[in-house]
This record gives sequence, structure tokens and C-alpha cells, in this order.
Amino acid sequence: MNKIRVGVLGLGYVGLPIFSSLKKKFETVGFDVDKNRILDLKKKYDKNFEFTKSQLTTSKESYYSNDIKDLKRCNFFIVTVPTPISLNKKPDLKPLFSACQILKKVTSNNDIVFFESTVYPGTTKFLKKRFFKKKKLVFGYSPERINPGDKKNTIKKIHKIVSFDGHDKKSKKKILSVYKYISNNLVISNSIENAEMSKVIENIQRDVNIAFMNEILMVCEKLNLNFKEVLNLAKTKWNFLDFSPGLVGGHCLPVDPYYLYTLAKRSGHDAKFMLAGRKVNDFLVKFLEKKILEKIKKIKNKKILICGLTYKANVADKRNSLALKIFKKISSKKNVYIDAYDPIINLKNTQNKNVNNKIKNLSKYGLIVILVNHSKYLSQLKKHKIKNEKKYYDPFFLIS
Ligand SMILES: NC(=O)c1ccc[n+]([C@@H]2O[C@H](COP(=O)([O-])OP(=O)(O)OC[C@H]3O[C@@H](n4cnc5c(N)ncnc54)[C@H](O)[C@@H]3O)[C@@H](O)[C@H]2O)c1
Repeated sequence: MNKIRVGVLGLGYVGLPIFSSLKKKFETVGFDVDKNRILDLKKKYDKNFEFTKSQLTTSKESYYSNDIKDLKRCNFFIVTVPTPISLNKKPDLKPLFSACQILKKVTSNNDIVFFESTVYPGTTKFLKKRFFKKKKLVFGYSPERINPGDKKNTIKKIHKIVSFDGHDKKSKKKILSVYKYISNNLVISNSIENAEMSKVIENIQRDVNIAFMNEILMVCEKLNLNFKEVLNLAKTKWNFLDFSPGLVGGHCLPVDPYYLYTLAKRSGHDAKFMLAGRKVNDFLVKFLEKKILEKIKKIKNKKILICGLTYKANVADKRNSLALKIFKKISSKKNVYIDAYDPIINLKNTQNKNVNNKIKNLSKYGLIVILVNHSKYLSQLKKHKIKNEKKYYDPFFLIS
């Protein structure tokens, strides 16, 4: 087997862990088009706070680069670039196209190209046809299940699907010899399209199930029912699904339903269900904004503290954060003095003096609203809550 040299394209939440898993086993180039990201990583700084300094070390053989020339030495490529939606909520494959343009320049016959970005079924084949017609490459797709902030279900431990079109023994051996260092639990599929589809439905399933809980939470509030007890009672049934309400943001759940919806529509099926979660989950912003403003109206001390601004607990990621949206909306109201406390958010790009990583004096606030369940402040808030129950609004019962 020829010496394997890996190139990882895109060093974000997904790509950086992949680079880190492989850097000591193979000569690995971690490539990103974002110069600042590469400069940061070279200085051993991860703006997402997922990696410590000592975890970002490189070597003469494995390093971060912004230079396409460095990818030329690689023969095994893993693409982990973003797959966002456009303003009119259509799949935006531009980052994938740009990665393919780069790959077109650096690949040679028999190289292996894996995509890990979340896409709709058929994308890998489409990219192969559009960009690599003249080359004999082996293509694969391995959906990513990384869960930032989750120290239990780490990339090495969870099941990772690996699908590819080169089923000759040599390619298979190469692929497995790389992917075994990424996950201990590889699941092989013979169909790239099935693997692509499986990823997108995992996320849609989660989106619609959380949406259902959010809807029940809103109905319980209207009916004056104790949602928490309702949920606990329902959970005593053996097959009740254990989902909780919450603010759905980030790069995956608010985006992926539109990928499949668009493809279904293009194929002639007008999907009725998969976007239902989107509307409900987005509506929660309005619902909570109204609830918070109602509470503010009733109190004398109009100093408000919002706890948690990132898109979910224990991550610094604020992409599509609904908590941030609520904070901005309430901040724009007259006669309300609002601070936010988020111990994880990266203040570097948060140009708002009222957002803090630390908080000294909780008692000065007339209302404390908990939107995100960061474990870093949970015990601090819990202690304070016991003494000041009436000051708290905790729509998701996070610290009860
Ligand atoms: N973040 C998650 O938790 C998660 C989980 C599962 C799947 N995914 C999927 O993985 C993919 C990547 O997501 P992410 O969260 O890591 O994104 P990210 O924004 O954190 O990182 C992507 C990186 O790719 C770089 N990039 C963009 N175009 C490039 C190109 N042409 N060549 C090289 N680098 C390029 C960007 O500069 C960025 O640093 C998406 O499809 C996402 O849906 C993400």
C-alpha cells in the first residue's frame, strides 16, 4: 500500500477533530480557506474552545495550512466544509463547490475523496460528475455525528457510517486503515446515497421531536398546566420518547430539513411534515419574548439578566442562536436594562458591552432568565435560585 497522506479541507467543529485523530498516524495537512483560522490554530488557539493548546500541537509532517500547494502531497482527502442554506432557505452548496475546485487541482488518479458535510442524497455523485469527470478517483461519504460540548459521546466512541464506491480490496483497505483512527465503531454501507439520507433524517427527526415538545410546552402554558409534571407522567409509559423542549439553533437542525425538503420537491414530492418542526421551533422566539416582556412588566426592578446566549448548552457556537435572538429583541425595548451572562461564548466577536463571561452580583437583577443550560454556571444559579425563587424565569425547567 502506498503511503497514505491525508488532507482535511475545512477545520471547523467537524474538521479539526478529524485532523487531530489522524495527525499522529499519517502525514496530515489541515487545510482551511480562512486565513485567520489557520493563524489562530498555528498559535494553538481554537476560537470554538473545543480544543486546548496542548491538543493543537502539530509536527513537521502534520500541520495546518492555508496554501493549496500543501494539499498536493496528499492522496486521501476528507472534506468537512459548511453546508448552509441561502436567505430563501435553499441548500447552498457553494463551499462544497469551492472545495471541489481545490480538489480538482490537487488530486491524481486513484486518490480517495471523502465528504463529511451534511448533504441531501445524491450530492456526492453529483459532485463527482460535475468536477471529476476526467479523473479516476474513489469517492466516499461518511456522515458526521460529532456533538460539540459533549464529552461522553466522543467521535472515537460513537458509531460512524462509512460508505464508498470503490469496493476493490485495495481502496477498501486504505479507507478502513484511515477511518479506524477516527472511530472505533465503523458501520460500512455499500450505498453512498443511503448514508447521505441517514444523516439528514437523523437531524430532521430530532428537529421535529423537539418541536413537538416545544408546542406542548406552549399549550400547557396557555392551559395553565404544569408542563414538567405532564412530561414526567407521560414518560412513565415504556415507549414514550424522551425529548425535551428547547431553543433549536446551530448549523445542523435549523438547516438540514430544508436540504431534504428541496430534494423531495425537486423529485416531485411535496413533503408535508419535515418542515413542521422549523416553524414551531422558530416561533418559540416570539413566544418567549412575549413571556419575558410580560414578566418584566410586573416587576419594579427592570434590571434583567439573560443566562446563556450560545445555540446550545456547553458550546461556544452562536450560529443561528435563538437565545441570542431573544436577547437582542428584549435589549431593543425601552426602559429595560438587560445584561447577558454566558461563560462560554467567545467575546472576541460579540460587540456588546452587556454580554459577560463572568458575573459577580446576581442579586442586583429583578429577573433572571435562563435560556441555555451551561453546566459551568448551573450550580451557581441553583444555589442562588433557592433563595430567590420569584426572580427566576426558567422556561425549560433547567435548574429545578
Ligand atoms: N458542527 C456540528 O456539530 C456538526 C455535526 C455534524 C455535521 N456537521 C456538518 O459538518 C459540516 C461542517 O460543519 P462545521 O460545524 O464543522 O462548520 P464550521 O463552519 O465550524 O467549519 C467549516 C470550516 O470550513 C472552512 N471552509 C469553507 N470553505 C472551504 C473550502 N472550500 N476549503 C477549505 N475550507 C473551507 C471554513 O473556513 C470553516 O473553518 C457541515 O456540513 C455541517 O452540517 C456539523
